[in-house]
Amino acid sequence: MEKPVFTPGDAVIIRASSQEPDTMTIQRLRVQHVRNLSAIDIEPHPQLNILYGENASGKTSLLEAIHLLSATKSFRTHRIGRVIQYEQDKLAVFGQIQSGRFSHKIGIERSKKTTEIRIDGESVNQASIPARHLPLQLITPQVNSLLEQGPKMRRRFLDWGVFHVKHDYLNDWRAFHRVLQQRNASLRQKLPKSQVCAWDKALLEAAHKITQSREDYITALSPLLAEYSLTLFGQTPELTYQPGWSQDQTLEASLQAGFSRDMERGFTASGPHRAELMLKFHGVPAQDVLSRGQLKLCISAMQLAQVAHLGQERSQTCIILVDDLAAELDQSRRQALVQLLIQTGAQVFITVTEAGLLAIPPDQGHKMFHVEQGAIAEKPR
Ligand SMILES: Nc1ncnc2c1ncn2[C@@H]1O[C@H](COP(=O)(O)OP(=O)(O)OP(=O)(O)O)[C@@H](O)[C@H]1O
Ligand SMILES: [Mg+2]
Repeated sequence: MEKPVFTPGDAVIIRASSQEPDTMTIQRLRVQHVRNLSAIDIEPHPQLNILYGENASGKTSLLEAIHLLSATKSFRTHRIGRVIQYEQDKLAVFGQIQSGRFSHKIGIERSKKTTEIRIDGESVNQASIPARHLPLQLITPQVNSLLEQGPKMRRRFLDWGVFHVKHDYLNDWRAFHRVLQQRNASLRQKLPKSQVCAWDKALLEAAHKITQSREDYITALSPLLAEYSLTLFGQTPELTYQPGWSQDQTLEASLQAGFSRDMERGFTASGPHRAELMLKFHGVPAQDVLSRGQLKLCISAMQLAQVAHLGQERSQTCIILVDDLAAELDQSRRQALVQLLIQTGAQVFITVTEAGLLAIPPDQGHKMFHVEQGAIAEKPR
């Protein structure tokens, strides 16, 4: 039988680590020409920020702007032209970030053709750099696709976590994908077997590093995920990782055995690029047994676990964006989620259509922002 869902009064403390992590916050945020937001300048609360307003007022656009600051891209579309305000050539987002004792200024400017990233006034040319400075988790109503769609999203989830706690990971990941591309190009050109397999040694080496890092990460994440899932919806998932090739043989053997098929198809079918992360309840995939609300809570638990793990490993908090928190959730689950979000110690931005949908504990520091037709005004509490 399911355990009862946690109610707001219960004391559930999932501490990231015995040592308090360095809090990372956006102290000031300026946004220009992002969708219907022409010119926004706000000073968010270091803990909790509630953005409320009618449909189409610009709430998700503000979260999109914060996402741009970290990832240099939107979470709604790959086409930046759709995000730039109508009739404008470019958008810009500036953030003053406080991370422990350090403060940084990040600026992102994007036109249809160019991306300019500035950290403390210096131009940088790698999109991974602002992401390092500003780790960000996004919980949206569409996030259920993490469990409902193919394995790519789940690999991305995994890689986000490993990328932020293990700084060599990005290099290993890039090295692997470079070799994979070369091997696939050789397959497409139908080169002799010896020339295709000349890539295998480097491929195996990089694949081993990626697989090891991901497996270590899952081992560390599992207890946190179990705890958050139990708190949010009274069940714990079984988390399993399939490395991207049959587990009864090595990757080397799998590459050998699959050579003719790879040659026929023109790509390498075994390796960590085909890995799968699975969440099951009673042996059945989560997406086949959970209700809509439970799915949302399950994914929120995965993301909260990542935030807590980052705090443990790096003593670092991250920014959490929650779009339309109330969607699909009843009152007690909403409160449970808000309470856990607050407990992470992260700076949280939550959007809702009506301010009254969330009950904020009376002693909880927070700011309320009313979003109306592309303008944002801080409201007295
Ligand atoms: N490129 C653009 N330029 C100007 N306005 C845009 C652009 N793209 C979208 N919009 C408009 O921006 C407005 C704000 O959209 P947004 O998705 O932020 O609303 P929201 O407050 O999240 O609404 P909901 O509560 O329905 O989710 C909408 O009216 C949308 O049509
Ligand atoms: Mg919205």
